[in-house]
Amino acid sequence: MRYRFPENFLWGGAVAANQVEGANDVDGKGLSTSDLTPQGVFGPIVERTPGDTNVKDVAIDFYHRYPQDIALFAEMGFTVLRTSIAWTRIFPDGDEEAPNENGLAFYDRLFEEMTKYNIQPLVTLSHYEMPYGLVKKYGGWGNRYTIDCFERYARTVFQRFRHKVKYWLTFNEINMSLHEPFTGVGLQRDSSRQQIYQAIHHQLVASAKAVKACHDIIPDAKIGNMLLGGILYPLTCKPSDVMKCLEQNREWQFFGDVQARGAYPAYMPRFFKERDITLEITDEDRQALKETVDFVSFSYYMSGCASADETEMEKARGNILDIIPNPHLKSSEWGWQIDPEGLRYLLNVLYDRYQKPLFIVENGLGAKDKLEADGSINDDYRIKYLNDHLVQVAEALDDGVEVLGYTSWGPIDLVSASKAEMSKRYGFIYVDRDDTGNGTLERRRKKSFYWYASVIKSHGEQLQPAVKK
Ligand code: BG6
Repeated sequence: MRYRFPENFLWGGAVAANQVEGANDVDGKGLSTSDLTPQGVFGPIVERTPGDTNVKDVAIDFYHRYPQDIALFAEMGFTVLRTSIAWTRIFPDGDEEAPNENGLAFYDRLFEEMTKYNIQPLVTLSHYEMPYGLVKKYGGWGNRYTIDCFERYARTVFQRFRHKVKYWLTFNEINMSLHEPFTGVGLQRDSSRQQIYQAIHHQLVASAKAVKACHDIIPDAKIGNMLLGGILYPLTCKPSDVMKCLEQNREWQFFGDVQARGAYPAYMPRFFKERDITLEITDEDRQALKETVDFVSFSYYMSGCASADETEMEKARGNILDIIPNPHLKSSEWGWQIDPEGLRYLLNVLYDRYQKPLFIVENGLGAKDKLEADGSINDDYRIKYLNDHLVQVAEALDDGVEVLGYTSWGPIDLVSASKAEMSKRYGFIYVDRDDTGNGTLERRRKKSFYWYASVIKSHGEQLQPAVKK
């Protein structure tokens, strides 16, 4: 069988400022929440003291090496590159009246470089970081005032980059706050569910205001939300497991429902009531939420299972996102369960639910790579993972799902988000740097580099049907 993706399908990769740029204290950048989690999103929150350093401070030095990296992406035939703007480069503390010109100038240069190669920037406004100033002074997203600061930031960058950037995303994996509130909404980890959902509400309002601002300032742009596509299957066909699965999927779908449909879904009042959560939602908030996204984007790495049986749930605590493993799937070296068909399923679920175009903005395999004596990296496992997922994207296109594009996660090795490791590599391009920060930062093409280039060039015709074992 031959797969053929639409001619205008956007092909590329996705990175995030705090995982690639480095240069954490240059050109007026302020401290972000990411700077305070040196061991990754789930690691300790550490106040910075002058002179201390961590692996993210340099990351892969994309801040200085981006021309070389973008040339390599262009060599693979990218037509889109997802990256984020570090909010703290533009508003170092978050609450300034005027933006930092040096920060804006950096992104001018970056987007111009992409334009040179006809690579569309797809820009996330906030990818797992926010100004620490807003956390320290106001309590992060727990405070309504953060909505105003975010809107000012969003309007500033829309205005400045309105001729250069036509695809935008508001918050990366907005549903992640349920698992990691400091990274998601700038709240302490012992915050109550009441506090977390109130902060999430503020962030949802801010997201809708950014969508409105984008529509006002760049009418020919498209702006989407971004969900961690954590699709769950019932562990068994027991009706109670099926119902539990529906409820657990709604916990993440809730975010998309608000952002794509413009109001709190009908199932949330009961959810809040049963948890003693009472949110402050004003009429103005409800009005703001009505501005919905143009497309829905998501990350997809794995699926999981849900069960009504408490002992199954208990066993799963401490797993990635506390999900129950699927006995029919294999896992990556990091315990993430590999499920290509889940991507087709998720695409269909989301398209049925929202009837808006979808964009797969993260997918990939984190693995340890071996640099051979001759300098090659033979990452056949990565090729297989990506091939098998892209085949399922082709199936979903055949199912009638509208998919705007695909940006694989980490087309160049970068610092992992969960544990701040360099050894968890996703790239088509190898970067010489280890977990402790040693290495020359030299870039090398892996075997997957040539494979991805051939897939893009052939509009997917090079993909191979997945071998079923
Ligand atoms: C997503 C994030 O959750 O997963 C990325 O949006 C992250 O920032 C990616 O890097 C992969 O996770 P990790 O922990 O392997 O880097």
